[in-house]
Amino acid sequence: MLSLGLILMTLVGHCYGNNKLRVGFYNGKCGSHNIEKVIYGVVQQKIREDPDIVSDLIRLSFHDCFVRGCDASILLEGKHTEQMARVNKKLGGIEDVGEIKEVVEKVCPGVVSCTDVLVIAARAAVFLAGGKWYDVETGRRDGRVSLSKEAEAILPPPTIPVNKAIQLFAKKGLNKRDFVVLLGGHTAGTAHCHSFKKRLYNFHGTHKPDPTISSSLLKVLRNTCPLNSQSDNEAFLDQTPNSHFKMDNAYYKQIVAHNGTLEIDQNMAISPLTKGIVKGLAKSPYQFLNEFGPAMVKMARIGVLTGHHGEIRKTCGSVN
Ligand code: HEM
Ligand SMILES: *[C@@H]1O[C@H](CO)[C@@H](O)[C@H](O)[C@H]1NC(C)=O
Repeated sequence: MLSLGLILMTLVGHCYGNNKLRVGFYNGKCGSHNIEKVIYGVVQQKIREDPDIVSDLIRLSFHDCFVRGCDASILLEGKHTEQMARVNKKLGGIEDVGEIKEVVEKVCPGVVSCTDVLVIAARAAVFLAGGKWYDVETGRRDGRVSLSKEAEAILPPPTIPVNKAIQLFAKKGLNKRDFVVLLGGHTAGTAHCHSFKKRLYNFHGTHKPDPTISSSLLKVLRNTCPLNSQSDNEAFLDQTPNSHFKMDNAYYKQIVAHNGTLEIDQNMAISPLTKGIVKGLAKSPYQFLNEFGPAMVKMARIGVLTGHHGEIRKTCGSVN
């Protein structure tokens, strides 16, 4: 009885809700190859060449999962696909996931979905950038539909008010804390001038800068994005020196100090709805590290296709 109970607990522990995702779905499905390890190796190599891939893979996960669920719809190429949406114009990492999938196909053809390749690759990136290792659930299948207008309608602009953002995440099964922890993805990577320039010169039509921005950051960002320049330069989302590509809680410390690059970043530290959570994460170096992985796992459950739905794409840019 006891051992049966233990077996059942183990099974329950690895299956969540009524979807069919589980930890280690591909174990034994790729001969002697451990596909998660293969993907880890490719990501490691890629990060050596270009650390930007860390933030690319994390953001790509968000943009995949929020539109039509985690189904690699963001990777489909074509005239009116999600990639073509304005919000996805500067989205990186799409080619990288395609290249990782090519390596995967060589050792294990037709088995691993593109959306799972992204989930496994993002976990590798988080870990390699100083985050904590976490188990990923797998077993997703790829979708066949990708529409730019859906991405435009769902993916939030940086000006979204905190309460609206919380509502958006709630619709996807993510609570307020998940929202604050996932925004910690902004501890790595950059934003382009077009995402925050209005804050610097003409905040909501006031012809003045956003009053919540620190004077030191305002100076730096105005330098990066001069008023009369069309160039869409990049600024770090986390202002901490030597922390731009690192998964740590430095981003929360910065937004508490009025050093948020995006309006949503700054407002999250000010809003009574979220500032308590932000302060807690800013104080404890381990809390964010412990919570980010599980929050990514939760996000990766949104609207997944399993069983007979969807397909295993051969190449990530097109349906079979
Ligand atoms: C209300 C929710 C969110 C909003 C409004 C938002 C908005 C943005 C914007 C405007 C940028 C800069 C784009 C650019 O100018 O190039 C950005 C970058 C980024 N976002 Fe978010 N984001 C949100 C949530 C998330 C979540 C949940 C994640 C992942 C867990 C995430 C991960 C990232 C990363 C890693 C970057 C940097 C990308 C790079 O360096 O290329 N974001 N986000
Ligand atoms: C805020 O950002 C500016 C610009 O990067 C920087 O000079 C300043 O040291 C930052 N403040 C804190 C508290 O780190």
